[in-house]
Amino acid sequence: MDFHVMTLFPEMILSGLKESITGRAEEKGYISFDVVNIRDYSADNKHHKVDDYTYGGGAGMLMQAQPIYDCYKSIEERILEKGNKKPRVIYVTPQGSVFNQGIAADLAKEDDLVFLCGHYEGVDERVLETIVTDYISIGDYVLTGGELPAMVMIDAISRLVKGVLNNEESAMTESFANNLLEYPQYSRPEEWMGMKVPPILLSGDHKKVDEWRLEQSILRTKERRPDLYEKYILENPPKPEKKKRRRKA
Ligand code: ADE
Repeated sequence: MDFHVMTLFPEMILSGLKESITGRAEEKGYISFDVVNIRDYSADNKHHKVDDYTYGGGAGMLMQAQPIYDCYKSIEERILEKGNKKPRVIYVTPQGSVFNQGIAADLAKEDDLVFLCGHYEGVDERVLETIVTDYISIGDYVLTGGELPAMVMIDAISRLVKGVLNNEESAMTESFANNLLEYPQYSRPEEWMGMKVPPILLSGDHKKVDEWRLEQSILRTKERRPDLYEKYILENPPKPEKKKRRRKA
């Protein structure tokens, strides 16, 4: 998966993603980061201006259409040269659909993804209409720019790309697979500050451990995320209890 990011703050993106698991995955070639400074595409060679006042008045400056469009076209050209299809272009904005694990899984199927990070009071609508395919938010709050949301999404998508996680199973079993949160986990020592590891986890009985974990996942989801629990129950209705047969007298 090749991630292409259009931003005014390339260092912010690179410093966040070059570390840890995403950094290692890039070194190994499972993902790549093509981070492009929109300012490099400003038509104003002297001041590299990329923003201007809003028509109709209003506070703040707006990112202009031309530098973003030219920046996008240079990325698109590189993608098409590789023989890949025209990419999905994500504008990270509080006005988008709210990001979740399902959206991450859908985006993880692509070969290239382009992210547009906005700043100031927003972006000229005409360039959005021209290049954007997906409007995505990371939640109902407003941040100062699109870099952090883009990094959040890239991180969540990357770990679903084959090879990025060492243990492929961990992407399957953790929180949100199946609309359930992950069960509680314990490491050594067996007793810490008077608190013991649940004995079933020490039993070596894998079937019982799996049953206990599922039960804990369900309980935890019901308590902490009743909205998810409802979805889980709809997809996994509890089995009706078997009626006990009456013995004939
Ligand atoms: N830009 C500013 N706030 C945002 C949010 N909540 N999600 C995505 N992009 C944003």
